[in-house]
Order: sequence, then structure tokens, then C-alpha cells
Amino acid sequence: MSSRPPCFARRVVQWQKQHGRRDLPWQNTRDPYRVWLSEIMLQQTQVVTVQDYYARFCARFPDVRALAAAPQDEVLGLWSGLGYYSRARNLHRCAQEVVQLHGGRFPESAQALGLLPGIGPSTAAAIASFCFDERAAILDGNVKRVLSRVLGFDADLSIAAHHKQLLALAQDLLPRQADAMPAYTQGLMDLGATLCLPRKPQCPRCPVQALCSAHREGNPESLPVRTRRLKRSAQSMWLLHARRADGSVWLEQRPDTGIWARLYCLPVFENREALHAAVPARARASLLDAQPFVHVLTHKDLHMHPVVGEFGSASIRGLRGAWYSSEEWPRLGLPAPVRRLLGVGLSPGPAHGAA
Ligand code: ADE
Repeated sequence: MSSRPPCFARRVVQWQKQHGRRDLPWQNTRDPYRVWLSEIMLQQTQVVTVQDYYARFCARFPDVRALAAAPQDEVLGLWSGLGYYSRARNLHRCAQEVVQLHGGRFPESAQALGLLPGIGPSTAAAIASFCFDERAAILDGNVKRVLSRVLGFDADLSIAAHHKQLLALAQDLLPRQADAMPAYTQGLMDLGATLCLPRKPQCPRCPVQALCSAHREGNPESLPVRTRRLKRSAQSMWLLHARRADGSVWLEQRPDTGIWARLYCLPVFENREALHAAVPARARASLLDAQPFVHVLTHKDLHMHPVVGEFGSASIRGLRGAWYSSEEWPRLGLPAPVRRLLGVGLSPGPAHGAA
């Protein structure tokens, strides 16, 4: 591994100003509310997807007090489709803490920001550097890739001690001038997102190519090293898509904990028999298995088996939940696969016929 490359920060800053992204909707502001909102949305989600959600959130909740005062259901509804709903629940809790504990103003250091719900060390550093010029080092997935390649850092980053080592090196690389921090932080993000890609990195266009150890060695794609793989599991679930002729669907709000906490969902069963048993006898004949599909979560593959049933107007006794009209349900917080099912309708599947 090489020592600290000279002029690294200066090159990143100059490149960002000339070639980096400068017109994203959350740039050109130092308002910590907006920067925080964008950084939370951008965790695990692409810029193109975030843009519309960000605009809708800013229009509906122009400041942290408006967000804190909203019902949680409304926040989850507006978040619906972005996935990783713990982000939305933490977003709401964070807004409430900022109002209750900090008088509606975000604290102005990475250390204090990192104590708020849903703000990890790298997000705290991003907000502090963008809004308050703090010399704080970000180290998200993209930046780990850039820095491990530039430095030739080949220790396994799934080990906490190695992550800590890389963080210390990232701190050494920061610009000396605090007012360079916003461009530097954005520059690292932009390099990771546009040039220093996991596969086929665009080294000839990279401003730090001459300093880059992995480029010199001819093996940039071999870094970063991460050996520990996520242990994946699988779960099967049967979903009752009960619908009425007027387009309404039966949804129940999920419990406060567990998968899709507090979102509105089709009733979920462990197997087909349990689903059939829960449906009133008069509607059972209409049940039809639809095309099963796999919904991939970070740790788990969900094998989803939708079953459609045509219902009359009565409520479904014995099931929690209620009918939601075709005007109402699109505005609810729905798990992404349920939204997809309701949106496209269901085509009959090949595996099983009507009960
Ligand atoms: N990903 C995380 N933060 C970002 C930002 N500020 N701009 C673009 N992509 C990002």
C-alpha cells in the first residue's frame, strides 16, 4: 500500500468543479434539512429515482417542522416505492428529534448529527461537510472503492478494524482548506458514481489516475476486497388479493415491527391452505392463483404467491383490514411488490388452478 498521494484533494476539487455533477436539485443549497433529506434518500437508491421523490417531499414538507408534524402514515405514503422503509420511519423520528431536542435546527457537527436516528457516520460527515464546511470524511460504498484503489488498500473491508484504518486514511486525505470541503465531498461521490466504477472503471478520464496505486498495478477491479458474503435466506408467502368490481382492494396495516412495519399490505399467509381457510365460503370459488414471483431483499428472497379473489361488498369477517378504493390505495404506504401487483393487475399463473 502506498503512502498519502500528494495533491489528491486539490485534483478532486478541481475536477468536481469542471466535470462533476453540479445541477442536482439538492446541490447549491446549504440548508441542512434539504441536504439531510437527499442524503437519506440517496442511501441505496439511484439519483434518477430520488429526484421525483425529493421534489414531492420538499413540496409537501418544506421544512423540518412540517415533516415532524405530519402523521407517520403520510410520510410512509409519500415514501412508497423507494423501499427500505426503516429509512422513512427514521426520517420522521429524526425530524421530531430535531424539533423537540434542537429547537428545529439541525446540529452543526458531524459528531452531533450522527446521534440522530438514521444518520450514520458517513451521512453525518456528508451533511457537515456540505452545510458547515466541516473537515469530516465520508466513507460510503462508492468512496471506499475510490480510496482503496487510489491507496492500494487491499485489507478486507468486511472486518471492522480495516474499515477503521481506511477511515483514518480518508481523514488524512481531506483538503486542508475547510471551504474546499463541499466540492471535495461531492467530487469523491461523483468519481465513485461516474468513473471509478466496480467494473470497467474509466481510468483515462480520472483526475487522480497518476496517483492511483491500483491503476499503476493494472488491477483496479480487484479492489476493494470484501470477503464476507451476506447470508441469504428465503421465505414463501401467500398474498390474498381480494378485490371488488368497483376496483377497491382489501388491505391491512402491518404490525409495528417486522417486515414492512406499518405499511398497508395484502393479507399475508404462510401457505395456500391457510389463505383459503380465511376466505368466506361464498368467495372461495373465485380464488385463482396468479403468477408467483421472487422479490429480492438485502438478506432474503421472498417467494410471493398471489391469489386473486372476487368479492362482494361486505367486509371480510375474520380478517383485519378494510376496503380501499382505487383513489385511496395508491396514496398509501405500500411495500414495492404489493404496489406492483396492484398496479399491473394479476395474470393467472401456470402452477395451480382455481380452488
Ligand atoms: N449519493 C449520496 N450523496 C449524493 C449526493 N450528494 N449527490 C449525488 N449522489 C449522492
